[in-house]
Amino acid sequence: MAEAPLHQVCEGCGLRAPAQEIAFTCADRRPADDIDHLLAVCWNETRRPRLDQGSANPFVAFRAESCSHAMATAFGIEDEEYIELVQQLDEAVASVDGHGFRTTPFSHNRGLGLWIKNETLNVSGTHKARHLFGLALCIEVAERTGALPAGSLGSAERPLAIASCGNAALAAAVVARAWKRHLRVFIPPTAPASVVARLTDLGASIKVCQAHEQAAAGDPCLEKFRAAVAAGAVPFTCQGSENGLTLEGGLTLGFELARSLALADAPRLEHLFVQVGGGALFSSTARALKLCAKDNAPLPALHAVQTEACQPLVRAWRTLARDLWAALVAAGAPDEEPGSDREMARWLLRNAKESVNARVFAAAGRQRGRYMQTVPGQPTSVASGILDNETYDGFAVLRAQIETGGWPVVVSEADLVAGRDEGRVQTGLNLDATGAAGLAAALAARQAGDIAPEATCAVLLTGTQR
Ligand SMILES: Cc1ncc(COP(=O)(O)O)c(C=O)c1O
Ligand SMILES: [Zn+2]
Repeated sequence: MAEAPLHQVCEGCGLRAPAQEIAFTCADRRPADDIDHLLAVCWNETRRPRLDQGSANPFVAFRAESCSHAMATAFGIEDEEYIELVQQLDEAVASVDGHGFRTTPFSHNRGLGLWIKNETLNVSGTHKARHLFGLALCIEVAERTGALPAGSLGSAERPLAIASCGNAALAAAVVARAWKRHLRVFIPPTAPASVVARLTDLGASIKVCQAHEQAAAGDPCLEKFRAAVAAGAVPFTCQGSENGLTLEGGLTLGFELARSLALADAPRLEHLFVQVGGGALFSSTARALKLCAKDNAPLPALHAVQTEACQPLVRAWRTLARDLWAALVAAGAPDEEPGSDREMARWLLRNAKESVNARVFAAAGRQRGRYMQTVPGQPTSVASGILDNETYDGFAVLRAQIETGGWPVVVSEADLVAGRDEGRVQTGLNLDATGAAGLAAALAARQAGDIAPEATCAVLLTGTQR
């Protein structure tokens, strides 16, 4: 094979995947090894994404930044052929879901006093389909080029598999149907009837996973999913820990945002609030924004949003922030005690020291359990889509917050309901509390005086009531 312009590296243990293979997970991952394995795609040279391309389809517009396009090019597939492949799959998606992928609008909402990116207009009604369409393209290209055996992934013998209670499963089912591949979904008994009906319509094979007896055990759907993958199924998932290539499609959201923010009349964004369940939405958005940042121009403070009932990332952030603070003080930073999360975030940004930060992050990725602790039992919240017991892509989220001076925001149930309802009134969208959680956090943070009333903020609206 020709030399591909990229490679895959595990951000947790540093393992480099063989260039001629396409891998989904780190080969050195072992159960309970306490390392935050995440197989990331890295380009061989430093490059800044090109954002000025015209197509309304993000998978065409940003193709040159994708792993699948780089693979295709390395194997001699012409650009036109690649575009045709994207368009054909996109048309198939449109025939299943009514429309294909289009850049979603980013606009100022006067009533809310902030900027919104409207992902509810996306395929299947959420951003989730971005992850899965990107994954489908990677696999399709790998099959066409011979890096993977043609048609074997997603066959009846090796079905695609996903664990999810709603939006991700629906998005996976739409893409799998359009792509004509078999999909198994692992869902909890609490999955809404409307979701189950639509999954059935789309031809997915459904496995309902009962909750564990012991409150402390992990997510039963994820366990069943992992067992299926161990038996040969393909991780067709929105969790980077289970398939690092899923972050590729997620980047398109951040690229779109960066392109909007680069326009002459664009706002200088100070804060971006993102709801965090497994963490892939946040981590891929943050990665894309960072890739696009001009000459290290400051990014907006990135805020991860979680519920009171389930906040594994917030806890991990506090432990990591404290460790980094101690390491920076030991290296000569002023020995002040930041009182709040906000003050801590600001202190860490002011006193950041590249070598110390890098050392602390690298060490943290090898002691996952010290930071990321599984929330026991089955937490409940009106924002039911962000109740992942642990944040699977958590370390990328932690790093991005610390590097941008953002702090995590916990929203109460009352704030979630108020944010969703205000969002419905001001946007006319039938938002759900999960999709409006970032909005709820922005409004609550403004009301609490944690951000200035005039600060320029943006949120991602990612879901509507099913
Ligand atoms: C509507 C919606 N928004 C945001 C998220 C959070 O995304 P992630 O799990 O990648 O953190 C989810 C996850 O299920 C979701 O359904
Ligand atoms: Zn690894």
